Amino acid sequence: MTRLRGFTATFVALVIAPHAAPAYPGGTPSFQTDAAPFCAGCHSSRSPDALAGAGERAEKETAERKHLAVILSGQKGYASLSEADRRVLAEQIRALDTASTVSLKAPTAVKAGETFQVQVSVTGGAGPVVGIALVDRAHRWYARPASSAGWSVVAPPEIQGADGKPRASWLEKRPAEAGRNLSFVNVPGIESNSAAGQWDSAEVFFTLRAPDRPGAYPLSAAYFYGTEKSTVLGYKTNAVGWKEVRGGLGGGSGRVVFTPVQSITVE
Ligand code: HEC
Repeated sequence: MTRLRGFTATFVALVIAPHAAPAYPGGTPSFQTDAAPFCAGCHSSRSPDALAGAGERAEKETAERKHLAVILSGQKGYASLSEADRRVLAEQIRALDTASTVSLKAPTAVKAGETFQVQVSVTGGAGPVVGIALVDRAHRWYARPASSAGWSVVAPPEIQGADGKPRASWLEKRPAEAGRNLSFVNVPGIESNSAAGQWDSAEVFFTLRAPDRPGAYPLSAAYFYGTEKSTVLGYKTNAVGWKEVRGGLGGGSGRVVFTPVQSITVE
C-alpha cells in the first residue's frame, strides 16, 4: 500500500506538473517577455469598459457575471461549498477586488528622445504573484505593448515589494544577454488575505525613451491578478501541495484592470 501510495503521488506529480507548470494561476513563470492583455482571455474584467465596443460580450466578461454568479449559484468547482460559504467567498472576493488598484505616475510632457521613468503602483491581488504591463490602450483586445506606440523600454524594470526591496527573481529568469528591458513583469512574493482584510502592494519603475517625433502619445498600465488564493474558501490543496483554485484553470477568478490612458506630450 505504501508503495502504491508512493506510486500514486509520483503519478499525480507527473500528470499535473507538465500541465500546471506553464499555467497562469501563479502568473507566467515560464514566459519572460512583453505581453498584452488579450492573452488573459480567462480573466474577468472589473468593468465592461475594458471591452468597449464588444456589445453583450463586454458585460459577460465582467467579474459579476463570469465569476461571482458562478460561485453564488454553486456551479462547477463551487458545488461542494455550502450556500453560506459561497456567499462568504463572494464577499471576500468583492473585498479583494475593491482593494486591488493600479495607478500610473508619468510626466505630462517630455522631450523627443528623452529618457524618463514612470511608476506603476498596485495594491491587492491574491498572489503568489501579480502581473503589470505598460500598454497603449485600456482595452483587453486592442491594447498593444507600449513599445508599439513608440515608447522604448531602455532598462530592466525595477520591481519592488511592499517592503521597498527589489523583487527581481522572475525578471532574472530571462537571460541577461537577451535584454531584460521588458514592458511586462511578474511581481513575486505577493500575498493578500481577503478573509483577514490584509492587502499587499508593489511598485514597478519602468525607464522609457520618448519617441523621436513630437506629438501626443498614449500610455496605460494593465494589472493582472488572481482572487481565489486569497482565502481558504477559494482553493483546494492538491496531492503535491499546490493551491488549486476552485473555479479551475479556465474559471474567471483572474482579473485584468487598466489605468485610464494618459496622453503624454512629446515636445
Ligand atoms: C486558461 C485560463 C487563463 C489564461 C488563458 C490566462 N490566465 Fe492568468 N489566471 C488564470 C486564473 C484562473 C488565475 C487566478 C488565480 C486565482 O484566482 O487565485 C490567473 C491569475 C493570473 C495572474 C496572477 C497570479 C495568480 O496566481 O493569482 C497573473 C499575473 C496572470 N494570470 C497573468 C496572465 C497572463 C499574462 C496571461 C496571458 C499570457 C494569462 N494570465 C492567461 C487563468 C488564465
